[in-house]
Amino acid sequence: MQVILTVVKILNSILKKTAAKCPHISQTYSIGRSVEGKDLLVIEFSDNPGQHDLLEPEIKLIGNMHGNEVLGRQLLIYLAQYLCSEYLLGNERIQTIINTTRIHILPSMNPDGYEIAASEGHEYNGWTSDRANAQNLDLNRNFPDLISIFYNRRQESIEKLLHLLEIFCTFITHNCMLTHFFPQVVAPETYAVMKWIRSNPFIISASLHGGELVISYPFDLSRRPQEERMYSPTPDEQSFRQLARTYADAHPTMSNNDTERCGASFANKGGITNGAQWYSFAGGMSDFNYLHSNCYEITVELGCDKFPSEEDTFLYSGLSNYLQVHRGIKGIVKDEHENGIKEATISVRGIGMRHDITTAEDGDYWRLLNPGVHIVTAAASGYSKVSKRINLPRNIQVGRVDFVLKKVPREPSLDYFNIPELDNYERFDPFNQFEQNSRRELGENGEERTEKPWWWAYFSQLGISAPTWLLKN
Ligand SMILES: *[C@@H]1O[C@H](CO)[C@@H](O)[C@H](O)[C@H]1NC(C)=O
Ligand SMILES: *[C@@H]1O[C@H](CO)[C@@H](O)[C@H](O)[C@H]1NC(C)=O
Ligand SMILES: [Zn+2]
Repeated sequence: MQVILTVVKILNSILKKTAAKCPHISQTYSIGRSVEGKDLLVIEFSDNPGQHDLLEPEIKLIGNMHGNEVLGRQLLIYLAQYLCSEYLLGNERIQTIINTTRIHILPSMNPDGYEIAASEGHEYNGWTSDRANAQNLDLNRNFPDLISIFYNRRQESIEKLLHLLEIFCTFITHNCMLTHFFPQVVAPETYAVMKWIRSNPFIISASLHGGELVISYPFDLSRRPQEERMYSPTPDEQSFRQLARTYADAHPTMSNNDTERCGASFANKGGITNGAQWYSFAGGMSDFNYLHSNCYEITVELGCDKFPSEEDTFLYSGLSNYLQVHRGIKGIVKDEHENGIKEATISVRGIGMRHDITTAEDGDYWRLLNPGVHIVTAAASGYSKVSKRINLPRNIQVGRVDFVLKKVPREPSLDYFNIPELDNYERFDPFNQFEQNSRRELGENGEERTEKPWWWAYFSQLGISAPTWLLKN
């Protein structure tokens, strides 16, 4: 316990020291602050720290989202030290990973919750106490729930109408079938991570937890919200299984039958499960990643003991394998003058209709795909579509597929999924969102102001009135 308490104070200084030892491949940066003002510090590894390199995939690893689940935090600190020292020692595998991948590590997403859990120590730690942040919010229930839109997008217009009514009803009475689209209070930690997700072209992520020994993958919210355990795969089920398998198979005990299990046994599934099939919940981080970015996130439950003593801390086996997990295709979408096209969509027949990948700033993209024959289409507003039939052989991890699109006259299109309000993250201050928004809402003389909070237009777009009470605390 002594050791753990020391680590609370010095986490950020360990990360800074590690980056200072490897300044040519590493740096630290803060993505925001916790409720109590602690920096959410990320350490990054790349051959060009601080910048995105064309076609280089970006990965993130997140620990300690739940304050009392500390193993992930420790593993990520060790991993950072390991990456730095092995690179310096000339470990070819680690050098290759860092030379070809940009890795972002956030060891503690919930430093306030951790501090309370750590002060209570190993013996006193319950299963659910100190899980939340300092506002008592469970960060893994605090992300905007976009999934209900996803499910309903498939249905006929009558059902859509019913759905809108349901949303409305949920906001008024809290008593409808559907869960909230937006949590009432967005924690600063959640906000910081949302913004982080938006500002980097991450393709793969792992969120490290404790309390079970299993890897779970989206969706975490059941296809029918009232059913607590229901297999609810994404259109990318195959890729998610592949990601989860890579981690589970590299872990020494994740898929063993003889390993001591906590509650449920996942050994007969090889240590992996669909999230909603295990138990359904709304507002999770992995569903948000999948529906609102190009990032595929798995949740790693590292073991039964949420707060193991120092001696129990085992190796980060599995983690370093996970850094090389990207498999599929990548490439650049360009116009006829060789300029990269930003925010072009890449869709794969059979998958893409439901989940398109979009290109990054310079037109580069990554698409997770299993080996086989695929029809891949690149499209961008103002350009003609191009489709290619590709064959991704088993022995190739990442194939290169570029597209050149021709300009055509622009046609207006209505994208049900496009939520431009989310671009207003920059102007959204999580520390006093309500004060600020209520001030904005009514002018000095009580007149309505034009500037609305970032999520406001979302409701107008759906054709319903926004819940004004959300603006008041
Ligand atoms: C990684 O990049 C560095 C710097 O360019 C180079 O010196 C090193 O040999 C590379 N390592 C591997 C394994 O490619
Ligand atoms: C683990 O146990 C389950 C059920 O007891 C069994 O079906 C499965 O084959 C076992 N797996 C291995 C790898 O032994
Ligand atoms: Zn957890």
